[in-house]
Amino acid sequence: MIKSVAITGASSGIGKAIAYEFARRGANLVLLARRLELLQALADDIRAQYPALQVHCLALDVAQTETLYPTLEQAQSLLGHLDCVIANAGITGVNKTGAGDFSRDQQIIQVNLVGGMATIDAAARLFRQQGGGTAVGISSVSAFRGIPGSAAYSASKAGFSSYLDTTRIELKKHGIQVIAVHPGFVKTEIAPNMEKYPFVISAEQAARDIVDGIVKGKSNIIVPALPWSVLGRVIPFMPDAVIEKAF
Ligand SMILES: NC(=O)c1ccc[n+]([C@@H]2O[C@H](COP(=O)([O-])OP(=O)(O)OC[C@H]3O[C@@H](n4cnc5c(N)ncnc54)[C@H](OP(=O)(O)O)[C@@H]3O)[C@@H](O)[C@H]2O)c1
Repeated sequence: MIKSVAITGASSGIGKAIAYEFARRGANLVLLARRLELLQALADDIRAQYPALQVHCLALDVAQTETLYPTLEQAQSLLGHLDCVIANAGITGVNKTGAGDFSRDQQIIQVNLVGGMATIDAAARLFRQQGGGTAVGISSVSAFRGIPGSAAYSASKAGFSSYLDTTRIELKKHGIQVIAVHPGFVKTEIAPNMEKYPFVISAEQAARDIVDGIVKGKSNIIVPALPWSVLGRVIPFMPDAVIEKAF
């Protein structure tokens, strides 16, 4: 039973919707992101709807990897125990390859891959001491096959999925479950005009499916399951021309 959850990137989009979904299911929360004022407004709204719940907010920049463990330790001490940590924080950047500025690509890797790994690593350290827990990483279907225009983002997610798949095996003996989440396209603030992408869903729908999968203990959650669980198997073998046309 998951009753205490820390979520990175909880100030908007999928992370915020996951916070509402776990609150609806009675979990106490620690909300993490850089924009503390947005977290506090979210926490106030959740407390107003669910007065019995504990909801705390902590400022966190996942790119500052040395802050991950102390922040999660603080989250654990605020709630007394942490059942689940969700590494959700992420950024993107479009059409940057060869445009003369590599810094955004580097930032994407630092936040999505290095920051995501650091979150799972810090959660694993905490869970080893606690005697178990669930670590969740929000990857993307772009890990299955890179999306043209989002090369660095796709690379960050392919790397993160690989890390999650490997740590799942490493950490099982410590009573730690590692879950990889692969969302398709979700309408959030991560990129403009998300509605132009295929099979787009709302953050609320994504959160419902993600939390369902987490509480069921699935190791790989694909949302929406259809069509992406089928596409995920065939898309790696599709010719470049088909991928180019699709995006
Ligand atoms: N939307 C999609 O179609 C889609 C599809 C697949 C996967 N995903 C993944 O889902 C996750 C959430 O994305 P979203 O679509 O919900 O985007 P979003 O609405 O832009 O939310 C991103 C969240 O990440 C946080 N964040 C960004 N940089 C951070 C940093 N350095 N440290 C801490 N927090 C940081 C932001 O908070 P602050 O700015 O307040 O720090 C925000 O809360 C990402 O990992 C994304 O790659 C999204």
